Amino acid sequence: MSKKEYILAIDHGTTSTRAILFDHDCQIKAVSQKEGGVDYPKPGWVEQDATQIWLDTLAVMADVLNKSGIAPEQVKAIGISNQRETTVIWDKKTGLPVYKAIVWQSRQTSDICDRWKKEGLEDMIREKTGLRIDPYFSASKIVWILENVPGVREKAENGSLMFGNMDSWLVWKLTGGEQHITDASNASRTLLCNIAEVAWDKDLLKAFNIPEQLLPRIVPTSQVYGTTAPYHFFGCEVPIASVVGDQQAALFGQLCLEKGMAKNTYGTGGFLLMNTGKDIVRSNNGLLSTIAWQIGDEVIYALEGSIFVSGSIMKWMRDELNLFEKVGDTAEMAIRAGTTGGVYIIPAFVGLAAPYWDDKAKAAVVGLTLGTNHDQLIRAGIESMAYQAREVLNAMEADAGVPIQVLKVDGGAAANDFLLQFQSDLCQVEVDRFKVNELTALGAAFLAGLAVDFWNKDDLKIELGQAFKPERSKDEMDKRYRNWKEAVKACREFKP
Ligand code: G3P
Repeated sequence: MSKKEYILAIDHGTTSTRAILFDHDCQIKAVSQKEGGVDYPKPGWVEQDATQIWLDTLAVMADVLNKSGIAPEQVKAIGISNQRETTVIWDKKTGLPVYKAIVWQSRQTSDICDRWKKEGLEDMIREKTGLRIDPYFSASKIVWILENVPGVREKAENGSLMFGNMDSWLVWKLTGGEQHITDASNASRTLLCNIAEVAWDKDLLKAFNIPEQLLPRIVPTSQVYGTTAPYHFFGCEVPIASVVGDQQAALFGQLCLEKGMAKNTYGTGGFLLMNTGKDIVRSNNGLLSTIAWQIGDEVIYALEGSIFVSGSIMKWMRDELNLFEKVGDTAEMAIRAGTTGGVYIIPAFVGLAAPYWDDKAKAAVVGLTLGTNHDQLIRAGIESMAYQAREVLNAMEADAGVPIQVLKVDGGAAANDFLLQFQSDLCQVEVDRFKVNELTALGAAFLAGLAVDFWNKDDLKIELGQAFKPERSKDEMDKRYRNWKEAVKACREFKP
């Protein structure tokens, strides 16, 4: 009897890299995870070591095979989902980065963005890319490296360097330098891609002065692009069959495959995405238009509400304020608090994204009294994830013209029952959590499995775990939401 086969998903997020094996029943067979380092060299700057990310990827792949007892040749295909926008430029010959990876959250390029705004590029950029001028996206990060790292511009122009987001970097490494590619979903986050044409845009490259030879080839999201170099995958040539931005991966993993279906992920950041089918829907409410995925020639688009700091508020409260040791204990603390006692935390640590796009906003804790206690602060931190999600949910409903009846959630913080009940009360919608919480990885696995006929569309399934329904009155929750809005206003007005 031939041995069972599996799909290996590599889910590289900002704060951790995971390798997960899925069986044909769409169930997790084994998981390996490594927390990655993040550097904050100056206020607002966020950087990572791309070489370390690659080494972490190798480590989790080895570990997941070891602990499951699955042989490398039983891996039918590999799918990759990745933190988007984070930018690395490396030398084609040595494979060494010329600078640290500049992370999506980093604000170090805000001067470059201000310059582009002054040059009047905003409308052209919005029209072509569906995005806006903001340090979030890759283009200003590329320009920052070209302008600040000695010798890089010249090398970029003579074709000896390569740019990539983490998808391109990992594929290039895994294939032993054979493939320099990015998929349509990742390309759409660079600020360089014309999303209607799914191609690098010559006008934008010219306006930003970025040499085209730096850029990877744009490919569909689900397709065999090449195989692993045997020395990087335990002697085997395994097809790499999907590459997808992590938020679009979660949309696919949540099986939001029809127009109008939406999901919300509480990861490092928070991301609400709605499938808009073959139409590029333009937002009037501070959302982004982006590519969800490309399968064959069919391109599916999404509306996205991005939040820069969601689950990472918990990391900050744990690591910087030492408020608790284990994130898993915080739901109980929040419930014990009863209320926040009127405290609101606005986690604008790197400015605010949707719906405000205010890169100068500062984080704040408002409403403190001498009676404010430890548990109330934690509760306010958790509630901040839900308030921000309501802001983007309301924006999305306004753009789509229809209410969202059920919010499907995933991501690390979705394990917190208190958060999901509060989210349901605050938005007065049902909040659904699935049995498998690794929906980003599952999305990448689904897309890879479809490309190698491991699954067909009818095989793809996820099972509902728990549905949270509103328990508090709309009036009460609306009042709290109004207070939140007041707190946001105050932190945007604070100009030190
Ligand atoms: O756009 C940034 C996003 O892709 C980061 O995802 O999972 O690290 O919060 P995550």
